[in-house]
Amino acid sequence: MTTANTIINTQSTTEGLKVKIERNGNSKEHFFSWLWLVDHSQEQECFHPYAKQRLLETFALELPTVATGIEISEDLQRLTLTWPTGKVINYTADYLQTVTQSNGLYDVIKQPVTLWDANTDRKLFCQVDHQDYLHDDEVLLKALHGIREMGVAIIRDVPLKISAAREVMERISYIRSSIFGEMWQLKSDGKIADTGSTPLDISPHSDGTYSHDAPGVMSLLCIDYDAKGGDNVLVDGFKIAQLMKLNHPEAYELLSHVEIPGQYIGDGAYLVAQRPVFHHKNGRLLQVSFNNHDRAPFILPEPQMSQVYEALKIFDRLSKDVSNQFTLAMRPGDMIIFDNWRLLHGRKAFEGQRHMAGSYINREDFESRLRMLQPRPLDMLVNRERIDV
Ligand SMILES: [Fe+2]
Repeated sequence: MTTANTIINTQSTTEGLKVKIERNGNSKEHFFSWLWLVDHSQEQECFHPYAKQRLLETFALELPTVATGIEISEDLQRLTLTWPTGKVINYTADYLQTVTQSNGLYDVIKQPVTLWDANTDRKLFCQVDHQDYLHDDEVLLKALHGIREMGVAIIRDVPLKISAAREVMERISYIRSSIFGEMWQLKSDGKIADTGSTPLDISPHSDGTYSHDAPGVMSLLCIDYDAKGGDNVLVDGFKIAQLMKLNHPEAYELLSHVEIPGQYIGDGAYLVAQRPVFHHKNGRLLQVSFNNHDRAPFILPEPQMSQVYEALKIFDRLSKDVSNQFTLAMRPGDMIIFDNWRLLHGRKAFEGQRHMAGSYINREDFESRLRMLQPRPLDMLVNRERIDV
C-alpha cells in the first residue's frame, strides 16, 4: 500500500472544501461539497464496519451543513472535520485521493487493452500451468490480467475431469448457472438444443445474446479428442470494431445503435434479449455481442433493414477472415478462459469424438476477483483496517 498521499492544505468555501493532495511528488486540488463529505463518512455510526454499507440517512440530513473545525494531522495523512453538531469525521489522504479516481475502482477492465489479429505474436497470450494457477495468487493475477488485456488466458495440463474445470473457474468466482446448468458439456450428441452439441462448423459468435446480462467470462476445457478437425477459433471483437470504425464508419455507427435480438428456444425455455452489436457505455466500447445462429426475428423499415443486413455482413466477413482469427487446436488438458464481452469464439467442423466442458462466470465476479487482487490503493475502505467476518 502506498503511503505517498499527503494533505498539503485546505480551503473552506460556502459550498465545500478544497483539499490539495500530494501524491508521488505531484499535488492536485480536489473539491468536495459539504454534503459529499458527510455522505462519505467512514465513521462507525455512518458506515457499518462489517457490512461495508452506509448507515447514514443521507437524505434526512438538514442542509446545508458547513464544517466549523478543519484540522490536518501532523503527518499530513489525515483530515479531521468538526461539524456544528459536535460530530467529528476523519478522512485519510489515501481515501480522499482514491475516491477522486473512483472510475478506476469501478472499471477494472478499462482501456488500454491490446487489440490483436492473426499476426499477433502468440507469446503475448497468457499461458499458465494448472498447478501454478491453482496455488499461486500471482499466477492467478497474471491469468486475470491476460484475460483483461488480450481477452483470453490458456491453462495447460488441467486434469481431464469436469470437477477440475470447475476448480479452475472457482479460483475466480462461483460458477454462473444457465439454461445449460453450471458445468456443461459439448459432445456431438445433440443432447442440448444448441449447435455446440453437433459436429457442425460454428462461426465466430458470443454466447448469451439472449441474456440481458450475457456471461462475462467463459471457459472451455478439452477432455477428450479423437477426431479430425474441430479447431477452436477466437476473434478479437474489439479489433473488428476498430476495423469497422475505420473502414466502414456508417456500418459501425448503425451496429452501435440498432438493437439486435437474440433468442434461445429449447429445453423448456424461450429466452430473448436485445442490444447493439457494439454496446457502448460512457463513450467507450464495453461489449461486442454477435451470434448469427441465435439471432431472433426482427424487422426495421427500409432502407434501414437493408443497411443493417449490409453492416452485419461486413462484421461477419471480418470475423470469418482468417487474418483476424487466433486458431487453437485444443487437446486434452488444454483449457481457455476468455472474455465473452469482447472475444468471439467458434469451432471448425469435425469428424470423430470431441468432448469439451464449459462454464460461465458473471462479469462482476470476474471484476471482483481482479479488484481484490489489486494493490491496496484501489481499496475504497482505506480509512480503517479490513475487518473479515
Ligand atoms: Fe458458444
